[in-house]
Amino acid sequence: MPSSGEHHDASSVFQYADMITINEHIDIAHLTTMGVHSVASRVVEFSNTEDLDLLRRDRLLDNAFILGGGSNVLFTGATYGGTIVRPAMNGVTLDRHGDSAVLTAESGCRLDDVVDAACAQGLWGLENLSLIPGNIGGAIVQNCGAYGAEIADCLTSVDLYDMASGSQVTLDRKDLNMSYRHSCLKEAGTAGRMIVVRARFTLSATPRPNLSYKALADAVAGRQDLSAADLRTAVIAIRRAKLPDVATTGSVGSYFKNPVLSGNDARAFADAHPDAPVHINETDKSAKLSAAWLIDRAGCKPMACGGASLWPTQPLVIVNRGNATGADILALEKAVRERVESVFGITLECEVVKLS
Ligand code: EPU
Repeated sequence: MPSSGEHHDASSVFQYADMITINEHIDIAHLTTMGVHSVASRVVEFSNTEDLDLLRRDRLLDNAFILGGGSNVLFTGATYGGTIVRPAMNGVTLDRHGDSAVLTAESGCRLDDVVDAACAQGLWGLENLSLIPGNIGGAIVQNCGAYGAEIADCLTSVDLYDMASGSQVTLDRKDLNMSYRHSCLKEAGTAGRMIVVRARFTLSATPRPNLSYKALADAVAGRQDLSAADLRTAVIAIRRAKLPDVATTGSVGSYFKNPVLSGNDARAFADAHPDAPVHINETDKSAKLSAAWLIDRAGCKPMACGGASLWPTQPLVIVNRGNATGADILALEKAVRERVESVFGITLECEVVKLS
């Protein structure tokens, strides 16, 4: 142990330097939105890059897993033997330049707090991402998205800390290789190594409503003088109608990704299933299918394993009905994947990051 060299079996908490908090042998159910119980060997919360330098010097970042809002991770075992590091800094600044503004958010900010702050300032760009659980850091890493928008759309740059070398770098959006639920921060070589310190977004005071998602366009049809806050309200209503509230029901949002097929496979699928929702990418003719539709049509909706089941109005979401273990969730995932595979010949990939 860093300060005393003692080994702790019971849960303990102490300060390390001024702003670093270390918890040992702690149940981390409350640190993830799935809310599954797992006891982690060590959870380290830091507040700035000087803290990171210190932690690195003392080898507390070796093999550490970076946890943000815990909205896309599943700790599958009853214990987790590694170190978890969590950014605690959550400052937001706004710099207006006429019609546009640069909003800078530190990685520990809740994404929805940032969206709310932007909308309250009458600024456009983030509103479609309302109510997505999780923090800024994780939202960047996996390029979170909803209702026709992705965080990449208004992201300008990201400051990163390299846990391996201790160096800091600023990457522009174009260098982050962002695509559907993807950024270079998930790629081999950088995955798990770069900590997002802060992100900058360019927002607009001029209305820029993104109404490409039909249900959202329908919800605000005919509205005059639509504000970013109005669109946020509409998004929140749609989300609440379809998705479980992570404050009361454990989930990681979409557990599975929507599968993407190449042009030929997409045509064959669309011919065989003319009623299936298929979104064609006009650039490369690939097609994104709906995992929810596949799961529904494969007859998986009633499936459950122990305390884990599928959310009735959005079955690509696995929920913890209160007492699910990591094993229950993995067993349900396997059952759903196998059923979808046997009915459609399509293998669902997970959006959730699993740790054991
Ligand atoms: N559907 C069914 N049966 C159902 C429910 C839905 O067949 O019981 C079909 C419908 O045909 C519907 C289609 O699923 O048209 C798509 O549903 P939805 O519009 O809700 O979107 P999605 O593609 O399933 C994605 C994101 C969500 C995001 C929504 C809205 C992924 C994996 N998921 O879901 O993201 O909120 O679009 O934009 O891309 C998340 O990542 O955690 C998340 C919730």
